[in-house]
Amino acid sequence: MSEKLYLYPVWVRLWHWSNAILFIVLIITGLSMQYSGTEMKFIRFDIAVAMHNIAGVLVTFLYAIYILGNTITVNSKNYRIREKGLIGRMIKQFRYYSYGIFINEKPPFPPKKNRKFNPMQLVSYVIVMYLFFPFLIITGFGLLYPETIFPTVFGISGIQFTAIFHSLLGFFLSVFMLIHIYMCTLGEKPSTHFKSMINGYH
Ligand code: HEM
Repeated sequence: MSEKLYLYPVWVRLWHWSNAILFIVLIITGLSMQYSGTEMKFIRFDIAVAMHNIAGVLVTFLYAIYILGNTITVNSKNYRIREKGLIGRMIKQFRYYSYGIFINEKPPFPPKKNRKFNPMQLVSYVIVMYLFFPFLIITGFGLLYPETIFPTVFGISGIQFTAIFHSLLGFFLSVFMLIHIYMCTLGEKPSTHFKSMINGYH
C-alpha cells in the first residue's frame, strides 16, 4: 500500500477554495460588465461592478495570505524551481500526460513530501501565482482608483490600456482555471486530487 502523505495544510485548503469561489464570482461579474452594452447581460451593471470590486478586494486579501503562507511555512519548499534539468523534466511529464497515461504507465514525478507538484504543475503555478496574479491585482486596483493611472501609455489612454491588460489577464487566468480543473482529474482516479484538496491527504 502506498504511503499516506499530508500535502495540503488547512490554511492552503481554506485559501484555495475561498480563492476559487471568488474567482468564479470575478469571472461571471467581469463577463457581465464586458457584455453590458449588448443583449447578453447577466447581472445589472451597477450590481456587477459592486460585486466585482468586493470580490477583487477579498481576493487581494487572500493573495496576501497565500504569499505570507508560502514565505513563512514549509509550503514554500514546494514552489522552488530547480533550473538544472527543468526542460527535460517538463518534457518527461508532458510525455506522460500525452502518452504514458493512456498506456497505464506510472507518473514520472509522483507527489512526495516537499515535492507535491510535478514539473508542469510547478511551473504553471509559479507563473500564474507570482506573475499573472500580481499584475491582475495591480491593474484591478488601477481601475478602482483611475487617478493613479498614467494619462497615456504607448500613445493610448492609460485607463484604456489598463482595462485591456486587465481583461487579457482575466481571460488567461480563466483559461488556466479550466485547464487546471481538467489536469486535476488526471490523478489515480478522477476524484483523487479533489479529495486531497478537501481532506489534505494524498
Ligand atoms: C473551481 C475551481 C478550482 C478547482 C476545482 C481547483 C482544484 C484544485 C485541486 C484539486 C488542487 C490540488 C491538486 C494540485 O495540487 O494540483 C488544486 C491546487 C491548486 N490550485 Fe486550484 N482549483 C480551482 C481554482 C483555482 C484557481 C482560480 C487558482 C488560482 C488562480 C488555483 C490555484 C491553485 C494552486 C496554486 C494550487 C496548489 C496549492 C498548493 O498546494 O500550494 N486553483 N486546485
